[in-house]
Amino acid sequence: MKITVVGAGHVGATVAQQIAQQELAKEVVLIDILEGIPQGKGLDLWETAPVLGSDTIVRGTNTYADTAGSDICVITAGVARKPGMSRDDLLETNKKIVKSVTESLVKHSPKSILLVVSNPLDVMCYVALKTSGFPHARVFGMAGILDTARYRAFLAEDLGVSVRDIQAIVLGGHGDSMVPLPRYTTIAGIPLSEWMSPDRIEKHVDRTRNGGAEIVGYLKTGSAYYAPGAAVAEMVEALVKDSKRILPCSAWLTGEYGLREVYIGVPVVLGRKGIERIVEVTLTPEEKAALETSASHVKGVIDRMAL
Ligand code: 2OP
Repeated sequence: MKITVVGAGHVGATVAQQIAQQELAKEVVLIDILEGIPQGKGLDLWETAPVLGSDTIVRGTNTYADTAGSDICVITAGVARKPGMSRDDLLETNKKIVKSVTESLVKHSPKSILLVVSNPLDVMCYVALKTSGFPHARVFGMAGILDTARYRAFLAEDLGVSVRDIQAIVLGGHGDSMVPLPRYTTIAGIPLSEWMSPDRIEKHVDRTRNGGAEIVGYLKTGSAYYAPGAAVAEMVEALVKDSKRILPCSAWLTGEYGLREVYIGVPVVLGRKGIERIVEVTLTPEEKAALETSASHVKGVIDRMAL
């Protein structure tokens, strides 16, 4: 198993670190246009291997030939938000970067899975899909695990229970219109409504929607990377182990949830071939309307964008 991580910034380096620590691949290639940064971070990560007891080799490079034959390519390249910016403000800059990165990746790894992390996430998945010409089962994005993780962390802290016992789904685009689903949130199998009042639930839902901006507000110079890195590693693990995990990911819909020709966050079954199935859950009219609003926002950005 060979995994390429594009972008040696905070997110890319954290993804490489997580994959190496969990020994999810034989080799991780960290690539960036900045000279020396991927080489330095890659070498530093490889030098953690004897301490951690992991045989995953990490190498940094500026040359796409070194990524040849990758099974999975994680695209984290692009700029991050600063306080006051929305993810959509990154569109023009990141579109060019994701497009050119995808062109280089597919040349050297035509059979790979493309796992997109760059923002605005759902739209960047579309850029990678159209540029690569890959089947949509092999092009998808990480957002739902991160959004769900934030939601689960807030609930666990509030209730004083283990994060492990909280299961939740967040649907929709990775933006202000995301759709956390309290009705499908359970704690040790017990519905969330048994644990807290609707007002308290709404407070956590709202904080989840603004979870990315909360971190940007603190960091000022960039956005989150520890939780995004861990979320990508969870998806990579499901892919390499063919474990058929059900995880919320940004997937290309072809009629599921009554939506088509759009990337949006939904629960999927992840296995060695990528997205093996999209899981559809029944929604109330309000939940359906919220998902449709979120999808039409993503679609609007896609339609306005020239590729
Ligand atoms: C976040 O939500 C960067 O979009 C990412 O933190």
